[in-house]
Amino acid sequence: MTTSQLKDPSRILEVGFGFWASKVLLTAVELDVFTKLSDRALTGEELGQELGLHPRGIWDFFDTLVALRFLHRDGDGRGARYSNSEETAHFLDRRKPGYVGGILEMANARLFRFWSDLGPALKTGKPQNEIKHSQKPMFEELYADVERLEQFMGAMTGVSRGNFAAFAEKFDFAKYRTLCDVGGATGLLSRLVALRHPHMRCTSFDLPPVEPIARKWIEHDGVGDRVTPVSGDFFGQPLPKADVITMGMILHDWNLDNKKHLIRAAHEALPENGVFVAIENLIDDARRENAFGLMMSLNMLIEFGDAFDFTGADFREWCLEAGFRRVEILHLAGPCSAGIAYK
Ligand SMILES: C[S@@+](CC[C@H](N)C(=O)[O-])C[C@H]1O[C@@H](n2cnc3c(N)ncnc32)[C@H](O)[C@@H]1O
Repeated sequence: MTTSQLKDPSRILEVGFGFWASKVLLTAVELDVFTKLSDRALTGEELGQELGLHPRGIWDFFDTLVALRFLHRDGDGRGARYSNSEETAHFLDRRKPGYVGGILEMANARLFRFWSDLGPALKTGKPQNEIKHSQKPMFEELYADVERLEQFMGAMTGVSRGNFAAFAEKFDFAKYRTLCDVGGATGLLSRLVALRHPHMRCTSFDLPPVEPIARKWIEHDGVGDRVTPVSGDFFGQPLPKADVITMGMILHDWNLDNKKHLIRAAHEALPENGVFVAIENLIDDARRENAFGLMMSLNMLIEFGDAFDFTGADFREWCLEAGFRRVEILHLAGPCSAGIAYK
């Protein structure tokens, strides 16, 4: 047998055609397949009809979802019944509290098409999203449209829920009383910390258009006595003071000067022995393993241009430079970790 016969190109082809699998899942979320099924089992024709689909594609579409392990199929042929997998029933039924599909909705509506301009992004170093032509700051552009603001908030909930829940579980809050989550979006991190650690008082700090959304979710979770939304601009004013300052996927949105500004602002807002926590898809120090973190950094190129993700070693260096005494890395979930800097 020759060497070329032994070699197998299937991984190259699988990744090369990764957009097929991606688009099948994103479209299933867009069409609400998993919510329509919820806890029921339906035949392909019943499900296709409920979704308003043309008969041509339904068997290929649903069976691809079976082959990708997002649906179960009981039986074969026309009478077979489709149902959610355990994972999709929990995470992709939008009526369930564990729904994380918001990030996939945004990936489908925005990122999928912007990523087709990865080549131009790499050649120019410039963003390829809505601001490609408008030149407006990214959040101003994104929040100019209420629907897009809501979509972005849903996306943040989807991508961060598991990481923030792991942080609320794994971090030792016993020594601390107050927390300020900077760029807190819907207040998710503060809400999860307040629910898990009733002694904590939390502030969720973000831009003014976000406050009504945070307020709604804080009321929804019944933690209004322990979580306060505060509006402000983290480049235009000092951060609210607290024992713990958290930033979830904030530093990666900015260039190095702005990252360092935010780290210094956190240092100033903390008391002696306070702690600064950055929750990010921290890239491994050798930049060989965390493919999701590395691609998140490419996503920051697409979204902002000069923004980038970083390693735990980078975080440590910037925090020590800002005056923190010591830095630890705590793994949270999947590709996500917390960089923890002690004042
Ligand atoms: C990538 S999102 C992260 C949201 C949330 N921390 C998470 O990890 O799910 C960035 C957040 O920073 C907020 N933000 C952007 N610029 C800001 C500024 N100048 N002042 C305060 N918040 C800002 C945005 O509104 C948004 O909620």
